[in-house]
Amino acid sequence: MTALSLTQDELKTLVGHAALDYVVEGEIVGVGTGSTVNKFIEALGTIKGKIRGAVSSSVASTQRLQALGIEVFDSNAVEELAVYIDGADEIDGSGFMIKGGGAALTREKIVAAQSRSFVCIADASKRVQVLGAFPLPVEVVPMAARRIVRQFERMGGLAQVREKDGAALVTDNGQHIIDVSGLQISDPLGFETAVSQWPGVVTVGVFAHQRAHVCLLATPSGVETLR
Ligand code: 5RP
Repeated sequence: MTALSLTQDELKTLVGHAALDYVVEGEIVGVGTGSTVNKFIEALGTIKGKIRGAVSSSVASTQRLQALGIEVFDSNAVEELAVYIDGADEIDGSGFMIKGGGAALTREKIVAAQSRSFVCIADASKRVQVLGAFPLPVEVVPMAARRIVRQFERMGGLAQVREKDGAALVTDNGQHIIDVSGLQISDPLGFETAVSQWPGVVTVGVFAHQRAHVCLLATPSGVETLR
């Protein structure tokens, strides 16, 4: 393939459009959150007459979908979804990911769990050998934040409560986010299982039990499909 000279934004557009191949006609599609997914939502608008609607993983994605005239269903009103399409902050060779850079990890994991297949859309900068260079987002109940910070520090991580406009960021679920840097997550399944048990942890941003089944990776040579 010839190498194309594309900006990161153009790579996101490319992979957002490529994801349309995985949308099942006549069905409701699970939609993630983030700048790459925003490109997918734009693309989805061009085929909106061919789908029943969407289940969304955030208020932000819901607003974008509705602005395009795509009906957004409550996740409780829908049984299993054929496919969930979302971005990632990191993805490894097994489809294990770090997610939550956009603070939507809890609803993302819920919609992913409701879906038969997870299609991850990302540009090649997201592909890693070992998860952990991107600070790991963890959604927590605010009263547990300090203790969870200390627990991560005992593991060798550097943890801090994410802020927005000078105050702790509040998620769509009314909770806070802790970002943990300095971890090397060599056993994503075990790590996700363990941290999910900590009191006060709502969702850890390791998606191993809800891994990606397909990864569409935008590269300067075009979109690569990894399974
Ligand atoms: C939001 C997410 C996003 O999928 C992740 O942060 C990637 O975002 P982007 O496509 O903007 O790089 O997990 O919570």
